[in-house]
Amino acid sequence: MTELQKTPADAAQAPAGAAQAPTGTPFLSVRDLRIHFDTDDGLVRSVDGVSFDLHKGRTLGIVGESGSGKSVTSLGIMGLHRSKRARISGEIHLDGEELIAAGPDRVRQLRGRSMAMIFQDPLTAMHPYYTVGAQIVEAYRVHHPEASKKQARARAVEMLDRVGIPQPDRRVDDYPHQFSGGMRQRAMIAMALVNDPSLLIADEPTTALDVTVQAQILDLIRDLQEEFGSAVIIITHDLGVVAELADDILVMYGGKCVERGPADTLFDA
Ligand SMILES: Nc1ncnc2c1ncn2[C@@H]1O[C@H](COP(=O)(O)OP(=O)(O)OP(=O)(O)O)[C@@H](O)[C@H]1O
Ligand SMILES: [Mg+2]
Repeated sequence: MTELQKTPADAAQAPAGAAQAPTGTPFLSVRDLRIHFDTDDGLVRSVDGVSFDLHKGRTLGIVGESGSGKSVTSLGIMGLHRSKRARISGEIHLDGEELIAAGPDRVRQLRGRSMAMIFQDPLTAMHPYYTVGAQIVEAYRVHHPEASKKQARARAVEMLDRVGIPQPDRRVDDYPHQFSGGMRQRAMIAMALVNDPSLLIADEPTTALDVTVQAQILDLIRDLQEEFGSAVIIITHDLGVVAELADDILVMYGGKCVERGPADTLFDA
């Protein structure tokens, strides 16, 4: 297995927006993460000993066949696996704080601002009974209690505009079902980015989108990273996206990390 540690030559090639050299303390450090589910058919080892580091300003691409544990890993980092049937072990350090021991209340505080996720299935992220705008406003105000309703709404419209929703000042009052699938996905991306999260996990963020919008979304993720030095995990089947965005790549198979290293090295191989 290749090492995630960068050589000085790699560090020199880090994009200008990289907030810090990848030699300091990682912003996210995952150690021997295991997420097993008790099912009626027995124990499912969805994630079975995954470890990696991610620094601020860097992008990790996670690839691997369907069912290899990519989404379960991400949901685990976000603390969204605290069901009775999930058994989670290992360590997840976010900005120096260990999350598995921290407990759900603390992780809820961190979700949104310190870490946010673009979900593979936009329907899981949006509530059908509230307008798209109300949900983005709510996500914003949780972490910006000082913002007025008007300011929060303006921020929601701005975010919808940035993800390419036409007439955002009108569409902000639509319900999710009034959006097309691609628009819902973009709205969810707007919601994930509204607080400029320090860690963004994007699970297949562009699969359902056409090429132009895909490019917009990837630009948006890059902007976030340049502006705020965010750490980004991008899960995708699209090797073009990985080649374009990722500094490091982690390959998963059967819940395990079977390969990891700098993107240029893995692509050469
Ligand atoms: N709540 C759960 N209970 C039991 N098994 C689960 C649960 N959630 C996921 N799994 C199983 O864990 C494995 C990994 O699923 P996961 O969704 O992480 O795959 P993935 O790598 O994201 O695949 P894809 O590329 O298709 O999105 C699968 O076999 C899945 O069926
Ligand atoms: Mg998945």
